Amino acid sequence: MSETVVVAGATGYVGRHVVAAVHERGHRVRALVRSRERAEADGAFGAPGLHGLVDEWRIVDYGRPRSISDVCEGADRVVSALGVTRQKASPWDVDFLGNLRVLEDAEQHGLASFAYVNVVHSDSGTSLTMRSKHAFSEVLRRGAVAPQLINPSGYFSDVSDFLRLAQRGIGFMLGDGSARLTPCTARTSRTSSSTA
Ligand SMILES: NC(=O)c1ccc[n+]([C@@H]2O[C@H](COP(=O)([O-])OP(=O)(O)OC[C@H]3O[C@@H](n4cnc5c(N)ncnc54)[C@H](OP(=O)(O)O)[C@@H]3O)[C@@H](O)[C@H]2O)c1
Repeated sequence: MSETVVVAGATGYVGRHVVAAVHERGHRVRALVRSRERAEADGAFGAPGLHGLVDEWRIVDYGRPRSISDVCEGADRVVSALGVTRQKASPWDVDFLGNLRVLEDAEQHGLASFAYVNVVHSDSGTSLTMRSKHAFSEVLRRGAVAPQLINPSGYFSDVSDFLRLAQRGIGFMLGDGSARLTPCTARTSRTSSSTA
């Protein structure tokens, strides 16, 4: 059955791929964006432009709670990839407060689930980004909407910078060079039986 999925952070690298996947599966997409024009253009790192993939646009300013009011009305689920990466903003204002405002609206309108792109080990991170993400994930876990937490292990866009350096013959190693690491695993925790 087709559902309406609210996507927060729809213009980001992850958000654009989420929008494309939800659309391909036959669901309606309600995208929360700052600029529709920018959203419809191609994104960074090969992420798709959203022209033709979005059924409803909502122009939001996460610093203005009134612009978030009723963004979830009549919808079924939320997927949020909203967060500060390279933007000039406080993670507390966006990763915590911005997501909190969307969650409160989702609770008010009785949505079935809220999937949130967190980051692995946010519970032990000390940066403001990690603490903001952890604070929101804790609120989400305790909220009235079924929480779905996705915990990616690394910033793949940053990894592309490492690849470019490697192409120029520059590489970094951890310790004596025998350690191996991969950014390609993510932990997903689902604290309810609901699925999107
Ligand atoms: N990509 C990864 O490999 C990875 C790994 C671990 C965790 N994560 C987490 O996943 C989430 C998405 O990552 P991403 O790579 O897709 O990041 P991204 O490309 O920077 O996308 C972030 C999204 O949040 C929005 N946003 C940021 N600051 C905002 C502000 N002040 N006001 C309104 N909107 C704002 C952006 O809107 P604009 O386009 O308008 O700026 C964009 O839609 C982030 O929370 C990130 O920490 C990502």
